[in-house]
Amino acid sequence: NYYAILMAGGVGSRFWPVSTQNFPKQFHDMLGTGDTLIQKTFKRLAHLIPEENIFILTNERYNDLVFEQLPSVTKRQVVLEPAMRNTAPCILYASLKIKKENEDAVMIVAPSDHWIEDEMAFTHNVKTAFEYCQSNNALMTLGITPTFPNTGYGYIEYDKISEAEIKQVNQFREKPNYEMAKSFIEQGNFLWNAGIFMWSVKAVVRAFETNQPELFKLFSEGYNVYNTEFEDDFIKANYAEAENISVDYAIMEKSDNVFVIPATFDWNDLGTWGSLYDKLDKDKSENAVVNSKVLLENASGNMIRTETDKIVVVEDLNDFIIVDKEEVLLIFPKQKEQDIKKVLQKVKNKF
Ligand code: GDD
Ligand code: MG
Repeated sequence: NYYAILMAGGVGSRFWPVSTQNFPKQFHDMLGTGDTLIQKTFKRLAHLIPEENIFILTNERYNDLVFEQLPSVTKRQVVLEPAMRNTAPCILYASLKIKKENEDAVMIVAPSDHWIEDEMAFTHNVKTAFEYCQSNNALMTLGITPTFPNTGYGYIEYDKISEAEIKQVNQFREKPNYEMAKSFIEQGNFLWNAGIFMWSVKAVVRAFETNQPELFKLFSEGYNVYNTEFEDDFIKANYAEAENISVDYAIMEKSDNVFVIPATFDWNDLGTWGSLYDKLDKDKSENAVVNSKVLLENASGNMIRTETDKIVVVEDLNDFIIVDKEEVLLIFPKQKEQDIKKVLQKVKNKF
């Protein structure tokens, strides 16, 4: 009865110029290991879930990339979204499809682009969650010990005293402002939301029915055509009507049956070049070099990745991101990595 939804529809704009709208980061080998991020995620889930029960949700634009990179996957397992509507619509849509196939399904919803070191610990945490969700109306999250007031994450307030592996959540707060995030961290009983969810298909559908009645109505109208030859027409005609909202705002913040398992594995959401840099092996001057022939003199803390055959010579330069592609060369201070999104916009306007 185990299922998975792999979300692979994001654009990863802070990883420009490697990640682009036509070829986003989940389809790249960001870590230089030989596997793309979506391939790594698929393999991780396949330890726990029958491969044919792993569904890939992505934009229709990435159809070819999915089938090239995951050749064992069949058409039944891939949902192509005709419009980008964030994670709530994609999760409800896939959940209804799975419900129609198997009312007793228990599932994990996972982003396709995260880094997880200890696969055994991950599998153990998810198994614990699955067992609980099988017989409880629970929305389960995995919590990460926060290290600074990051405003890009969801925060989970939990009962720290409880010794149980699974803890009741007092409140779920998506992307608080800096002041709020700071006070959460000072209080000491908050975790970051890893963006990985586990629940029974009944529990998640019920949560949408209660908290997002419009979205629920829109997609429920297709229930009788899901998993049939008429589904394509339904999704093309209706998907774009869905509100653009993330699952965190749509159901997690609003529900009182949220639980958390503090993760026992190391986690990184590979959101920026800097977070990727942290996870890569470094040379003795702390440079991280992926796929590149380099000559470095008096250079430290740089993140270098080339997709051309060029030899890269760097001297007297510290803490920069250097990315060389056929059509773009980016040389950017690591400190300002959040601004890459804006630069991309400027480049689009100018060229
Ligand atoms: N199929 C599909 N369709 N996938 C999508 C879409 C969509 O329209 N939009 C985003 N995704 C995928 C992204 O590719 C990513 O893997 C995942 O869904 C999460 O989306 P993000 O846009 O990266 O979310 P976030 O980082 O702002 O916030 C979420 O993740 C944080 C941890 O990384 C939230 O769940 C936070 O609470 C959480 O802390
Ligand atoms: Mg993210």
